[in-house]
Amino acid sequence: MTGSSSTAEASPAFLPRRGLVTALLIAAALAVTVMVALLLPIARSDPYTRATLALNGSVQDGGRLFRLNCAGCHGLAAQGLVGPNLHGVDRRKSDRQLIQQVVSGRTPPMPRFQPDPQAMADLLSFLHSLP
Ligand code: HEC
Repeated sequence: MTGSSSTAEASPAFLPRRGLVTALLIAAALAVTVMVALLLPIARSDPYTRATLALNGSVQDGGRLFRLNCAGCHGLAAQGLVGPNLHGVDRRKSDRQLIQQVVSGRTPPMPRFQPDPQAMADLLSFLHSLP
């Protein structure tokens, strides 16, 4: 009986502390979740994507590459032909998705391109320059 009375005395003192521990655990879990959500996309991207995103692209060079490789399907002014109009495509797709679109070949009839990272960075800059 002494045991049960001591737990009854102890519980009021324990409850607030358990609440604090729970709150801290929840806060820590939230912090970890936010960090994972922010860091995972960076960690997940492959070396090619990371190399491309680390470079400064040239709109002029990207435009030249575009007219040679892409304009046949997307139109000289990227207005759309066989492939869709690419104006404002950077509002629909992230840089990672744009890179995937170009290098993956996952959406036939658009072929799989293998530009080196600098050429890909130039293409990205060109796509961003389209109003
Ligand atoms: C053989 C024709 C063809 C060529 C060449 C081509 N594309 Fe495409 N492209 C397409 C088609 C078709 C789609 C639509 C694919 C789908 O979503 O099913 C597309 C989609 C895209 C998209 C996504 C558009 C959106 O609205 O989400 C981007 C960005 C793109 N192309 C960029 C390029 C670039 C940059 C090049 C040159 C390196 C290129 N394309 C060359 C046919 C082509």
